Amino acid sequence: MKAVRIHAYGGPEQLRYEDIPAPVPGPGEAFVRHTAIGVNFADLHNREGRYPLPQLPHVLGGEAAGVVEAIGPGVTGLRVGDRVAYAAGGPKFAPGSYAEGRVFPAERLIRIPDEIDDVSAAALFTKGLTAQYLIKSVYKVGPGDTILLHAAAGGVGLFLAQWASHLGARVIGVVSSEEKAELARANGCRHVIMAGDPDIPGRVRALTGGEGVPVVYDSVGKDTFETSLDCLRPQGLMVSFGTASGRVPPFDIFALNGKGSLSVTSAAFAWFVRNREELILRANDVMDVVLKGAVNIRVNQTFALKDAADAHRALESRRTAGSTVLIP
Ligand SMILES: NC(=O)c1ccc[n+]([C@@H]2O[C@H](COP(=O)([O-])OP(=O)(O)OC[C@H]3O[C@@H](n4cnc5c(N)ncnc54)[C@H](OP(=O)(O)O)[C@@H]3O)[C@@H](O)[C@H]2O)c1
Repeated sequence: MKAVRIHAYGGPEQLRYEDIPAPVPGPGEAFVRHTAIGVNFADLHNREGRYPLPQLPHVLGGEAAGVVEAIGPGVTGLRVGDRVAYAAGGPKFAPGSYAEGRVFPAERLIRIPDEIDDVSAAALFTKGLTAQYLIKSVYKVGPGDTILLHAAAGGVGLFLAQWASHLGARVIGVVSSEEKAELARANGCRHVIMAGDPDIPGRVRALTGGEGVPVVYDSVGKDTFETSLDCLRPQGLMVSFGTASGRVPPFDIFALNGKGSLSVTSAAFAWFVRNREELILRANDVMDVVLKGAVNIRVNQTFALKDAADAHRALESRRTAGSTVLIP
């Protein structure tokens, strides 16, 4: 079976397309023959060693869609031939989706409805479930809210912008180019601010009657942290859920007092999708908004599996918009 592995942490040049033995499912597991593989920013962090892998060499990737080809002992509610997808699940589930197939715990597989094609399904669950828990659990977005969203034209960004807008919120998106601005506007952002703007807090205040926003969703990290705090209204919530530009350095918690009794949380998927019940509840919510057309899955880039390194180069140089998928 072909797979993309790294033998050492580093840049995209570490990705090697090579043969590995096809694994056999153990108790509670299924072997999924992949038809499409989702690329996520976390894969870059795994590659760099920022999110360490259990051992090296290791297959990268946390997400894919495909067909169940074999099931291990004790698996119920799943049959050979079922169309399924799975999302990255935090440190408990080691990466390994950049391959023609893989073994995965059956309880983490999601059945895909006929209306959702494989490429879309491979882009749906890590990003869709992330958007879901961020706007339904971390902060309950609703009508009357104005929210600020960084990387608004990215994979997670487009899900968040469309869904928050569907819930009645006014979305202000931050993006790095005119092309991305257009895409963000077409996908739920009422207002767009350029990432290079020297006064993002000023623009946000101008759009909110001087008040600021109740919540900022920030996946950029180091470069935007201070700016995000300055965009919040008193008692606002800063949701840090990614570190695309690097980790936020230590900061003085007392500064939150002076800026308006703000709150900060560092949110991670794994803590909001802790068991099958939660996975299915949230995944059904995601599929519901997709099937009723409120949220569209935007796969803007596809690459052959063997060219995964090119996908990484594109993602880390901010050349991608929407989701990126590899085809085995
Ligand atoms: N906590 C969680 O549960 C969770 C789950 C899934 C994803 N995430 C995080 O959410 C973020 C989005 O993930 P994604 O896979 O959908 O990626 P993505 O948003 O498609 O790509 C990252 C985007 O971040 C922006 N960016 C700003 N500074 C950057 C920099 N220095 N280098 C690279 N990009 C930069 C770019 O948009 P502009 O060009 O418009 O600035 C870029 O397109 C990532 O940080 C990821 O780790 C977190």
